[in-house]
Amino acid sequence: MTILVIFYYAITMSIVGIDLAIRVTPDLGVGNTPLLALPGLTSFSTSVRIYAKAEWFNPGGSIKDRPALRMIQRGLETGRLTSGRTILDATSGNTGIAYAWIGARLGYRVLLTVSSAIHPEREKILRESGAELILTDPMAGSDGAILKAREIYALDPHEYFYPDQYNNPENWRAHYDTTGPEILAQTGNSVTHFIAGLGTGGTFRGTGSRLRAEIPSVRLVAVQPDSPLHGIEGLKHMESSIVPGVFDPFLADENMSVRTEDAQAMVARIGIEDDLRIGVSGAANLVAAARVARREQREGRHATIVTVIPDDGRMTAGAGANGETQ
Ligand SMILES: Cc1ncc(COP(=O)(O)O)c(C=O)c1O
Repeated sequence: MTILVIFYYAITMSIVGIDLAIRVTPDLGVGNTPLLALPGLTSFSTSVRIYAKAEWFNPGGSIKDRPALRMIQRGLETGRLTSGRTILDATSGNTGIAYAWIGARLGYRVLLTVSSAIHPEREKILRESGAELILTDPMAGSDGAILKAREIYALDPHEYFYPDQYNNPENWRAHYDTTGPEILAQTGNSVTHFIAGLGTGGTFRGTGSRLRAEIPSVRLVAVQPDSPLHGIEGLKHMESSIVPGVFDPFLADENMSVRTEDAQAMVARIGIEDDLRIGVSGAANLVAAARVARREQREGRHATIVTVIPDDGRMTAGAGANGETQ
């Protein structure tokens, strides 16, 4: 009887928890971003097309609204985020903005650990978004910020909800459930290639695995900077980085390296040709997409190449030399 009562109580609580989570966290306008056609990049061909998800249309201005919202929703559903707790994570970039505005909307305090090497303009944007910041040793880089977040959490786990974007599977599941299906719908299931850069690896893993589940022949191309010291903000050079738990090293059919200068040239080109302001990581994706397009054209194949433009570069301007701005 006692067991039955406990079981009933657990079910009731979890149903109530889910119900509450759904009620307090609708999609908040996150996702359903436009898919842009970029015909200028494939003017040499009539059979190859490049499209890009314009992720700056998210309310917080970047693709990171998707995983941040999902991790918070899951925190509510599982009871790890309860009222009065503070959302805590290590981030100096788009995820920080996402936590800040979603936290403010839902009534949660947000505390971010950030390397004090942060560009003053980005620090200002984060503070204005409502986040509190703890600045960490600049010599310890983003790893120092991660260690600080872990330390704060370990000292008082009941005070904080620590999503840990690098290792939280809800990060990539957000893309599996939103970015992937949106691309399928927007292309009428005709996508032949998906290309994305690796930061935490969440976008590539979640979107790529969803597209593969629906279209087994789709080619998945992962993009990385060509060297450890690079300026492609938001992306990681995996070989020389702490590899995030979210990253799946076996998913890509192909890995492509992009030079910072080529990505920056693409920012300028898209600015002039399409009158669009895009961030350098989105530009790196477009450099890789243009390469794939030329190859497919040479081989005489039809291709619908889809990539993402994670942001418009506002948050990542002035990032450090290793581009770590997750
Ligand atoms: C500007 C920018 N581009 C790309 C990425 C990479 O996305 P993901 O972490 O899903 O790999 C990020 C992640 O923060 C980013 O901020």
